[in-house]
Amino acid sequence: MKNDLWYKDAVFYQISVRAYKDSNGDGHGDLRGVTQKLDYLQTLGVDCIWIMPIYPSPLNDDGYDIADYYAVDKTYGALDDLKELIQSAHERDIRIVMDLVLNHTSDEHPWFQASRSDRNSPYRDYYVWSDTDKKYTDARIIFVDTEPSNWTLDEKTGQYYWHRFYASQPDLNFDNPKVQEEMLNVARFWLDLGIDGFRADAVPYLIEREGSNCENLPETHIYLKKLRSFLDEHYPGRILLCEANQYPEDVRPYFGDGDEFHMGFHFPIMPRIYMALKKGRYEDMAEIMRRTPTIPENCQWCTFLRNHDELTLEMVTPEERQWMWEQYAPEPRMKLNMGIRRRFAPLLDNDRRKMELANSILFTLPGSPIIYYGDEIGMGDNLDLFDRNGVRTPMQWDNTPNAGFSTGTPFSELVKGELGYQQINVASQINDPNSYFHTIKRMIAVRKKHTAFGGSSMEWVETGNPAVAVYIRQHSDETMLIFNNLSASAETVNLPDKYQKTTVDLFADHTQTLSEKLTLQPYSYLWLQMPK
Ligand code: NOJ
Repeated sequence: MKNDLWYKDAVFYQISVRAYKDSNGDGHGDLRGVTQKLDYLQTLGVDCIWIMPIYPSPLNDDGYDIADYYAVDKTYGALDDLKELIQSAHERDIRIVMDLVLNHTSDEHPWFQASRSDRNSPYRDYYVWSDTDKKYTDARIIFVDTEPSNWTLDEKTGQYYWHRFYASQPDLNFDNPKVQEEMLNVARFWLDLGIDGFRADAVPYLIEREGSNCENLPETHIYLKKLRSFLDEHYPGRILLCEANQYPEDVRPYFGDGDEFHMGFHFPIMPRIYMALKKGRYEDMAEIMRRTPTIPENCQWCTFLRNHDELTLEMVTPEERQWMWEQYAPEPRMKLNMGIRRRFAPLLDNDRRKMELANSILFTLPGSPIIYYGDEIGMGDNLDLFDRNGVRTPMQWDNTPNAGFSTGTPFSELVKGELGYQQINVASQINDPNSYFHTIKRMIAVRKKHTAFGGSSMEWVETGNPAVAVYIRQHSDETMLIFNNLSASAETVNLPDKYQKTTVDLFADHTQTLSEKLTLQPYSYLWLQMPK
């Protein structure tokens, strides 16, 4: 595990520990459960697991409201269980990154308890207090469905405190050097335990300034660079992954000169993949990829189709958002904040062709792909559950009671209906060589075999057919020609002369000689390697 640039070619996998596998029958998934499933993840071909927050928390925001940065909540196990997980993963060449929530704590965190107890508390300045709620009015509200304001009045001390998310998640004050120091200590603690890096939550919001929208401020970058140099100095090879739900040109500064984040999520490409599939047109995808700036050599994008939050529509125009809601959220309860709280398979009508096609795009775009747990088998969601819990239900391992997730009473209802565990589960798909799981596994294996996919270059090929996304991925001596037919009909493309060659089909392992025209079946894809 020596290569410090490992993340550039890695396949990531996101796990909600609580929902993954319960090892002790208490109904909650735990760290030992994840350790038990490492063989499965190795079979799938995963290189790095992102585990969602496992800190003690009142769970008002599923653990993104942290009450203690230095412990594992006992429902997930103990610190030793985490060490064991890291060690067992490393033995399989799998890395583990975890959430680092810098921007805010839970209101139950002792710092906030002390801070709110008295205006003269030494912890008062750990948070952002104000006599008025009329400050920073240009900052948008993120949880628009629940939060009327970014300020909440604290009755006892008669001041308002600042929070970008739920009122139970007060923002830390990053203008305070003590807070800056505290969070470096937190990072050190987990890095010393062997963690391979952090998915850094909500980083645009660390600093507030009057007259700005309180996002992406220069002082925020100064702090993040400090965090990076701390990692480089003491923990080379460990990474920082940036969660900034922004347009690519606004995420670009988070890579700095290769001295801030190693990776950043590419948020805007995600909804455009769904748009492309519905419209049968690739132009929106092409537009955002063209708009994506070059990043330093030692950096990489992280691409995804779904995650634990609503499918966010913040990075589209208001008209596009409306259209996406009409197309993908036909029931009002499917909408949440600025997005859609559904999982991947139901969004794509559980249509195997569309699901494979979306993954073909994911795995061939620039950036390292991340798979949300359960999406590799196409599991469903449960819309009866509150907020985003409907996409965080227990993993569907087999068709025994509780999906093989727990022998106790699961913390959550499972998925019901046709995408429930009776039909969709790991055991049955592993046993069926033609299953969706095996297709995803093959895509991962092919991707990992060829460095072209981890490179940064992407060139669109003009074929005269707007329904077929055709592009070149090239790196060192490898050139891949990728076709994705977004349309429900067979489509023919005209190939420029230079591509009319004998190529190798990366899935079929046979050659395919291309001529002037090529016809692709509805929603089909083709990954071809050009001769060297
Ligand atoms: C982003 C996380 O993905 C989301 O789940 C959480 O609610 C907010 N940050 C606040 O931490």
